[in-house]
Amino acid sequence: MATAAERTGPARTDAAHRASPSGWVLRVIVSAHTVAIFGQPVFAGIYLSGDFDGLRWHEVGANIVTALGYLQLIAAVVVWLRLRQARLCLATLALVAAETVQYFAGIDGALWLHLPLGVLTIVGLVLQFIAVWSGPIEPATREEDDSE
Ligand code: HEM
Repeated sequence: MATAAERTGPARTDAAHRASPSGWVLRVIVSAHTVAIFGQPVFAGIYLSGDFDGLRWHEVGANIVTALGYLQLIAAVVVWLRLRQARLCLATLALVAAETVQYFAGIDGALWLHLPLGVLTIVGLVLQFIAVWSGPIEPATREEDDSE
């Protein structure tokens, strides 16, 4: 059993960053997805300031964000099947559902829904970014072994 000293410092950081190949793929996609979604309020702000190019960029951004969301879902399903970690997959499923509603709310101009849901999806994705980078993404059994 690890002592308290062994659980701190670089050894603990290394353990947190450990991931299987499918875990690394998920981390890369979640990171790209997070960067992409931060562009959305910026482009919306450019548009609302009177520059119509902002709406075009927001539309391109919406397609990129949505595509990355579906890629993230595929990667999270693989992590679930290979590593038996359902949590990230269920969280991604909720996020992708919210982004899909967000997309159609944007097209419909339903800003009463689009603006708060936009903030919520960004917060949700940031929490997922923190989750995939702050702990190991490994087979469930190995994780249990580590906690002994
Ligand atoms: C906090 C974040 C966001 C803000 C503040 C925001 C704001 C806006 C605004 C002001 C519009 C223009 C609506 C109109 O003129 O009627 C719009 C349109 C749109 N938004 Fe967002 N949005 C955000 C995030 C997102 C995200 C994450 C997506 C994609 C999943 C998205 C997809 C769209 C789409 C598809 C449109 C329609 C574009 C068009 O008509 O060409 N938005 N958004």
